[in-house]
Amino acid sequence: MSELPKLVILVSGSGSNLQAIMDASAAGDLEASIGLVISNRPGVKALQRAEQAHIPQLCIPHQDYPDRESFEAALIGSIDTIQPKAVILAGFDRLLSPTFIRHYPQQIINIHPALLPAFPGMHGVKQALDYGAKVTGVTVHFVDEGMDTGPIILQTSLPIEEQATEAQLLERVHALEHRIFPAAIQLMVTGRLQIDGRRVHIL
Ligand code: GRF
Repeated sequence: MSELPKLVILVSGSGSNLQAIMDASAAGDLEASIGLVISNRPGVKALQRAEQAHIPQLCIPHQDYPDRESFEAALIGSIDTIQPKAVILAGFDRLLSPTFIRHYPQQIINIHPALLPAFPGMHGVKQALDYGAKVTGVTVHFVDEGMDTGPIILQTSLPIEEQATEAQLLERVHALEHRIFPAAIQLMVTGRLQIDGRRVHIL
């Protein structure tokens, strides 16, 4: 059997999406292996999840570096030891510079908890609720040099019910994320995505 393509997953927090990706890989639904998990925050649950699954993990605290450039140089140094097919942002909370993004052309994938281009940024679920949107959802996209602006791979929607609280909506959004993120990564690693300007064709 030929070796599976490798992923590097960048995290900052709870890592529920990391868990979904690890589970999909273990179940054979995702034909990729996770070569390395990197957190920019020490002690987060995502690192514990990786440890439990015996996946190599590393903490590179951004605060230990004087500027973005030196932090990203450390990230790149570690990521490149793996030579990953894709770099996955699974709740990673640092903005990445054009230099970093150009280092991995069409290889960086992010998940966002809203239907982009609506509600970009850090609080997509709360923003949709506060705005009074009737529908929201989840977007998986390639990362370009803007914030949450890259070409869209998959989106799924869900209705916002009249009485929904933020916690309830968050839970439903997470459940959707855990389904479509591994599916989108599977499309990428099996070569089924073709980027054509803003459009991503699924072959
Ligand atoms: C997710 O809601 C994701 O959409 C956003 O950050 C959150 C990460 O959650 N980018 P987790 O760490 O995967 O549980």
